[in-house]
Amino acid sequence: MHPSFNEFINKMTQLVSSAKNDEEKILSQGERFLADLVAQDNWLPEEFAKPHPDYYQQYLLYSAPDKSFSVVSFVWGPGQSTPVHDHTVWGLIGMLRGSEIEESYKLGDLGQPVKKLGTQQLNPGDVGKVSPTIGDIHKVSNAYDDRVSISIHVYGADIGEVSRHVFNENTSESKTFISGYAN
Ligand code: FE2
Repeated sequence: MHPSFNEFINKMTQLVSSAKNDEEKILSQGERFLADLVAQDNWLPEEFAKPHPDYYQQYLLYSAPDKSFSVVSFVWGPGQSTPVHDHTVWGLIGMLRGSEIEESYKLGDLGQPVKKLGTQQLNPGDVGKVSPTIGDIHKVSNAYDDRVSISIHVYGADIGEVSRHVFNENTSESKTFISGYAN
């Protein structure tokens, strides 16, 4: 991997091990480290930047040996989007290339639609945050229908192995899922 990425991993390793479970500290300092990483679009290997015609792709770039955090490249084909979902652990989303729309939600009563809390657009260099404490339910879409967008995600677990949830937008019903990785 590129030296910039290695430096990011070193800083995150130190932060996550020293902050223990201080989520606020991890999110605020990690945001700065990730903003530095995505300020330059010159380090992501081509193999982790490939879109799929039908599905957004999640490539594992790094998983800590103790599974305390992981780093994933999210590659959006034109017009692709996630369902409404949660994470169950802290997460940072750094925009590397293109742009994405993030809509945050809270659940309605069972049988009632989910409620939109807000929308933000992430552009290159921007960093978004999620966690069960600050708001963990969202839907993310490529802002473009004619080109690829890529964001770099950092999570407080080996996220591909975490059992979490997708939600039906019309009924707030949940289903568990495990995302895995494209690679
Ligand atoms: Fe997400």
